[in-house]
Amino acid sequence: MEAQLPALAEKRGRRKLTTRIIFSVQALRIQFDNRSVIHNLSSTWVPFHEIQDESQMETLSMSNSENQQIVLASRPIGAPTPDNFRFETQPIPAPVQGQMLLRTIYLSLDPYMRGRMSEAPSYAPPVAIGDVMVGSTVSQVEISHHPDFAAGDMVLSQSGWQDYAVSDGKGVFRLGAQMKHPSYALGVLGMPGFTAYMGLLEIGQPVAGETVVVAAATGAVGSVVGQIAKLKGSHVVGIAGGERKCRSAVEYLGFDACIDHQDPALKGLLAQACPKGIDVYFENVGGAVFEAVLPLLNTRSRIPLCGLIAHYNDREAPQGGDRTAQVMGTFLKRRVRVQGFIIFDDYGSHFGEFQKQMSEWFTAGKIKYREDIVEGLERAPDAFIGLLQGKNFGKLVVQVGAAIK
Ligand SMILES: NC(=O)c1ccc[n+]([C@@H]2O[C@H](COP(=O)([O-])OP(=O)(O)OC[C@H]3O[C@@H](n4cnc5c(N)ncnc54)[C@H](OP(=O)(O)O)[C@@H]3O)[C@@H](O)[C@H]2O)c1
Repeated sequence: MEAQLPALAEKRGRRKLTTRIIFSVQALRIQFDNRSVIHNLSSTWVPFHEIQDESQMETLSMSNSENQQIVLASRPIGAPTPDNFRFETQPIPAPVQGQMLLRTIYLSLDPYMRGRMSEAPSYAPPVAIGDVMVGSTVSQVEISHHPDFAAGDMVLSQSGWQDYAVSDGKGVFRLGAQMKHPSYALGVLGMPGFTAYMGLLEIGQPVAGETVVVAAATGAVGSVVGQIAKLKGSHVVGIAGGERKCRSAVEYLGFDACIDHQDPALKGLLAQACPKGIDVYFENVGGAVFEAVLPLLNTRSRIPLCGLIAHYNDREAPQGGDRTAQVMGTFLKRRVRVQGFIIFDDYGSHFGEFQKQMSEWFTAGKIKYREDIVEGLERAPDAFIGLLQGKNFGKLVVQVGAAIK
């Protein structure tokens, strides 16, 4: 069964209303998140599973009798639009022996998903037209016929953009029952945090006193890059979109400076903020930001090439002259080391080391974290489109359902 986006959004909206009445305290938290209130582990934020009682949970659980999905309807030409997505309603799948039924609590939205919508060759296959959009989730085991998982377990899985998924347990990891904020497994304690950690420390190798510049500075990866660089004694300059994000980078994340890439004076402002040049540029963006960074690169500087989000919606190569000689010439003359990486392909074996170190820093309050939580699976397409325009402020996560204690 298929449904058009507004009709389904309205239907889901009615269902969510029940949820909002029952979980008024949780709804309040979500609204605060949408107003971008900053919270971290040391805050007094009360996780919702601590304020629920069993009878309320039963009501919510029973209200979900279908599996709502968002599938890829067509491939975008340029920036994705809502038409590229389609809502579908399917029966909830039934797990057989050796399988389990997972219910999605949080869905992570990440820039790599733009690549999966495209047929262009990449390091991972595209999503087929009509298939459920891929994505990491924090899910709860609803029914288990699997020896290693029990009903009620919170897990990290790859359930995609849907309410329910059946899994045989491959690539599914149990989250500790003591984890107060399971959604953090999709951000600072998961893939984006790991990307920041390995990219900066393995490729960037910042030395105390050096200048580290990071783009998309308040995002899931960039915010962690800058904070780790500060822990290593670097002079840290962020680049972000807008005054509000830049203020947060300095006042909340503790960067030394942050430059707004929307400011026409970007090049001059960046030069002022980096009086000794740039030793490490953590590349998340490309485009005008890279152009501002290039003349400031020091001899023997390093560029962890993590992402190029400013170009993900490009339809064709940028107009203008061939800049290869200028860019490569700078790399050559200044002996710049540029290294691209795909986090789990290249560094997967280091995940345990990352988890241990990041948990220590995080628990000690040395790393701060901000989420941008959107309520309702039906809002995922718009939220994802916004991510590619810089509308998110912090790690973008969709709250799809509520956990049952
Ligand atoms: N190599 C890997 O294994 C790996 C793993 C994870 C992520 N990544 C890459 O890391 C980068 C950051 O990912 P994330 O998950 O942390 O996302 P994010 O920073 O939380 O969100 C994306 C941000 O990109 C910035 N942006 C979007 N369009 C832009 C444009 N045209 N020009 C300049 N900035 C733009 C916006 O921030 P502002 O408003 O501040 O500009 C936006 O908020 C992405 O390029 C992603 O592909 C790579």
